[in-house]
Amino acid sequence: MNPYNVDHVAIAVHDLDEAIERHRSLFGAEPQWRELVAEQGVEEAMIAIGGSYIQLLAPTGQDTPVGKFLERHGEGIHHIAYAVTNIEEALIELKNQGAHLVDETPRTGGRGAKIAFVHPATFAGTLVELVELPHE
Ligand code: CO
Repeated sequence: MNPYNVDHVAIAVHDLDEAIERHRSLFGAEPQWRELVAEQGVEEAMIAIGGSYIQLLAPTGQDTPVGKFLERHGEGIHHIAYAVTNIEEALIELKNQGAHLVDETPRTGGRGAKIAFVHPATFAGTLVELVELPHE
């Protein structure tokens, strides 16, 4: 499994509007899109930096994965996403190597991408997301 890009670094925040505005004023970067992913209980904004994105994530409620993360850790880096060409193959390879998968099969994330999470116990306490972008 060879990721070809760091697709995004996700930062959990309480207030998405405020985080976008602060990012804009500090770094002059505009979000390229903003999307509610109801299934995951988050609203996200994607800000392009070079060939990768910063993903600002705000929970839709306290009883969501990001809501619980904020309660436990406060705002900060939530996960790192690697772009892969074939997510199903990548998941099989990782599993064969003993990785602890949060998602055994991909689900749909923002941008219509197929995504899956790998448990932080697998590598250095870092939640890793695999992303397969929709093919043109
Ligand atoms: Co993500």
